[in-house]
Amino acid sequence: MGVVQTEDQKAARIKRKDEHLKYFLMSRPSRSNGFTDVVLQNNSLPDVDYNEISTEYVFLNKYIDSPLMINAMTGGTEYSGEINRKLARLAVKFNIPIAVGSQTVAINDPEAADTFIKVREINKDGIVIANLSAGSDIDDVYKAIDMIDADAVQLHLNVVQEMCMAEGDRYFRGVLDNIRKIKALSEVPIIVKETGYGMSYRTVVKLYEAGIRYVDVSGRGGTDFVSIESLRNIEVDCSFLKEWGIPTALSLLESRKASSDMFIICSGGISKAEEVVKALCMDADMVALGGTILRILLEQGYDAAEKYMEELLYGIRMLMLLLGTRDIFELKNVPYLLKGEIGELARSL
Ligand SMILES: Cc1cc2nc3c(=O)[nH]c(=O)nc-3n(C[C@H](O)[C@H](O)[C@H](O)COP(=O)(O)O)c2cc1C
Repeated sequence: MGVVQTEDQKAARIKRKDEHLKYFLMSRPSRSNGFTDVVLQNNSLPDVDYNEISTEYVFLNKYIDSPLMINAMTGGTEYSGEINRKLARLAVKFNIPIAVGSQTVAINDPEAADTFIKVREINKDGIVIANLSAGSDIDDVYKAIDMIDADAVQLHLNVVQEMCMAEGDRYFRGVLDNIRKIKALSEVPIIVKETGYGMSYRTVVKLYEAGIRYVDVSGRGGTDFVSIESLRNIEVDCSFLKEWGIPTALSLLESRKASSDMFIICSGGISKAEEVVKALCMDADMVALGGTILRILLEQGYDAAEKYMEELLYGIRMLMLLLGTRDIFELKNVPYLLKGEIGELARSL
């Protein structure tokens, strides 16, 4: 935690940013996020007009157009800076929050910092969220927040990824204490997030007891750092972890069971309107998009990403109508059924 980096380590960290993007594109989500086991039922008497439906929401004291956000992904190099600018434009266009990728690379390097600062410059009034490892020093957290005038800061937990990287961290003691300390000293809300392997009931209970009130479950079923790291390096064989992780839908159920008043962001392989709506019916407070939007942006360009967002929002409104709900809060009262693996696992929670 808070280890001073050598020049070689800094250079390796910068190089890793672009490598992650390259190998992310080569890897494909291949595991279920669990939402196919969640069933919503048609309401033939919705008693709602389509034009009444509103997805408006308030997050961190700001109005947003829907309870969606763009999750932490990148920044720090010229290429990733360009991606950040496009993601920031999307966030402005759809008036949704955006989190930048880990800012460690930029803490002591003004050139790298610019690739994050641009996100705030493009998104002057919207919600921009900082991102650092949960093991970071409080001074670095302050710097990350100041760098982009952040509305909140995400602290990421990425043990699986670190263990799969030959050069990755091997020291994980004291992270919860560090989170507690950051929470006590930070002036902006703290969101603790996973990075694709899901939070369990016990993890969320511990975070709640440490004073955390925002989590992002970031479950299994989408971006998979085990595959990314397996493609990037051959020194560590982590192929046996192919099935590791808590499917997003299950992680959401576990997190809600752990606390009724935790603000839960549901992410991990979310790509369809149906998944967003199911997550909200299962009492997620918000849904975050990561790899899905990044892949469309990189493979098909900015206009395709905009079109994807428009279709996603249309699908969400359409499903809200079919469920007889006028706004996001009414979704929380829509019953859902669980079947298959998630149904079985949920029964033993
Ligand atoms: C290329 C790439 C880089 C990422 N970098 C970060 C990061 O710096 N910090 C972080 O908290 N999460 C990072 N993530 C993880 C995402 O925020 C998210 O938790 C994870 O990808 C699961 O969501 P998804 O399946 O929708 O992608 C990254 C994801 C991708 C695809």
